[in-house]
Amino acid sequence: MSAKLKSKNSKIKTSGKPAASKRSEGGWRTEVERVLITEEQIARRIKILAGEIERDFRGRETVVVSLLSGTVMFLADLIRHLNLPLRLDFIGVSSYGAGTESGELVFTKELRLDVHGRDVLLVDDILDTGKTLSRVLPKLRALKPRRIKVCVLLDKPERRVEKIQADYVGFSVPDFFVVGYGLDFAERYRNLPFVGVLHPHIYKKVCKQICRK
Ligand code: PRP
Repeated sequence: MSAKLKSKNSKIKTSGKPAASKRSEGGWRTEVERVLITEEQIARRIKILAGEIERDFRGRETVVVSLLSGTVMFLADLIRHLNLPLRLDFIGVSSYGAGTESGELVFTKELRLDVHGRDVLLVDDILDTGKTLSRVLPKLRALKPRRIKVCVLLDKPERRVEKIQADYVGFSVPDFFVVGYGLDFAERYRNLPFVGVLHPHIYKKVCKQICRK
């Protein structure tokens, strides 16, 4: 998410912990208000999700299709727990907007693998308004896979404007502005090992700059 302001998250209990102290030198302690989902919670949930996916995809020709770039951490952790023969490919899609909401969607990388007749597991980091998946799913369906199942780490149902649901959801979250574990704000914070809530002073400052242009 380059310059798009959207909060990402829900029905998860917040840990209420301040952002971990060990990384104070990293500089994000004043930027990330609190940890919403810890590394340990993510790891536990991914193992459970992987078990469900394994059961559903066993014996099928599976292609995992991941949406760049926010899925990077989730995808890596998820597929290492999938005890299935699978192929992996990526679709590059990003929304660029100059306002405070999702902008126009741009495809930056097309799928290369043949998914015809195969089972597709579409992986994304967050299902927010649903606009991204509502553009990606018809493109994938046109390639005639046997079926497509959608897996997201985070689901933020309050923000939905498109009629899209995921088949596998890591965490349903409230409408907070979340970053970390692949999720960015202005391309930063993707490397945080947890999902945290961005301090409003960070995105309000950037919003002012964007909105002035
Ligand atoms: C983020 C995220 C999802 C999308 C969800 O992508 O990775 O693909 O937004 O939002 P939506 O449901 O409102 O469409 P983004 O365009 O920010 O690109 P990124 O993955 O590179 O951060």
